[in-house]
Amino acid sequence: MDDIEGKVLSNRAIAPGYCLLRIRLSRSMGAARPGQFVMMKIPGEDIFLRRPFSIYDYQKGVLTIMYKVVGKGTERLSKTPKGASILTLGPLGRWFTVNRSASPVVVAGGIGFAGVYSLIKTLRGNSSIFFGCSAINEISLLKDAMRFHPLVATLDGSYGFKGNVVQLFKKHLKGLKDKNVEIFTCGPDNMVKSLKQLIEPYKIPCQVLLEERMACGMGLCFGCVKKTTDVQEPYKRVCKEGPVFDLWEIFL
Ligand SMILES: Cc1cc2nc3c(=O)[nH]c(=O)nc-3n(C[C@H](O)[C@H](O)[C@H](O)COP(=O)(O)OP(=O)(O)OC[C@H]3O[C@@H](n4cnc5c(N)ncnc54)[C@H](O)[C@@H]3O)c2cc1C
Ligand code: FES
Repeated sequence: MDDIEGKVLSNRAIAPGYCLLRIRLSRSMGAARPGQFVMMKIPGEDIFLRRPFSIYDYQKGVLTIMYKVVGKGTERLSKTPKGASILTLGPLGRWFTVNRSASPVVVAGGIGFAGVYSLIKTLRGNSSIFFGCSAINEISLLKDAMRFHPLVATLDGSYGFKGNVVQLFKKHLKGLKDKNVEIFTCGPDNMVKSLKQLIEPYKIPCQVLLEERMACGMGLCFGCVKKTTDVQEPYKRVCKEGPVFDLWEIFL
């Protein structure tokens, strides 16, 4: 797989510390499935490793990434102007698989929303969506998904339910656990861990998109391994065998 060159069409802040980047690719990257990601070479000689980002949207040769500024690479990315050239490699990794006989439930926290949005879109409103963030000023992350009526939790109670997204989901679990549901999730480690604890007694099927640190993103360096319940080959590469895993097969 080769890098694809792209030109930045827009790169703008959508909430404090969050940006939306649109890039016109110079050639097609082929079909991108929900949960897949790209490795992006951020402009600048001093940022050596590519960074992984979920494919938020990909249509008519335009790739959209939603990202949170957390460090050197994303800080630099946020300052990359319109017209700049960026190299991307993808689509990479394994995607979410939807069991058509189950009702989909999406649980996302913060920038984890970027990992599940393309799935939400594919499900065309046929999913229950739970989203959690810190405060009302992050609600604009949900702009494209508002038409699917997400249920929202904010830590400070400035919008929707006051508390975290797992506490919000817990309030609805009673009605869901006897139904045939499947959960799709992406978010901070502590969110995924507490979600797992909550649904453990009911063994609800759940696929999780893991945002592990990556170096090559292509299965070569083994820098992203996660321990699983597979007795024969317990260590799986998040970039190759993931980033989407069965929650019940992963040690968090
Ligand atoms: C499959 C996948 C999809 C991802 N999709 C998105 C996305 O759509 N939008 C988005 O904003 N981010 C996404 N990430 C996370 C993103 O890759 C990191 O935030 C980014 O690489 C950080 O680069 P940096 O140079 O700014 O931070 P660094 O300077 O490298 O690190 C700054 C801080 O961020 C933490 N950090 C770095 N990488 C990660 C990571 N992978 N997960 C959690 N914490 C990390 C570090 O521990 C450190 O505290 C994804 C990661 C993976 C593996
Ligand atoms: S990042 Fe190199 S093997 Fe996954």
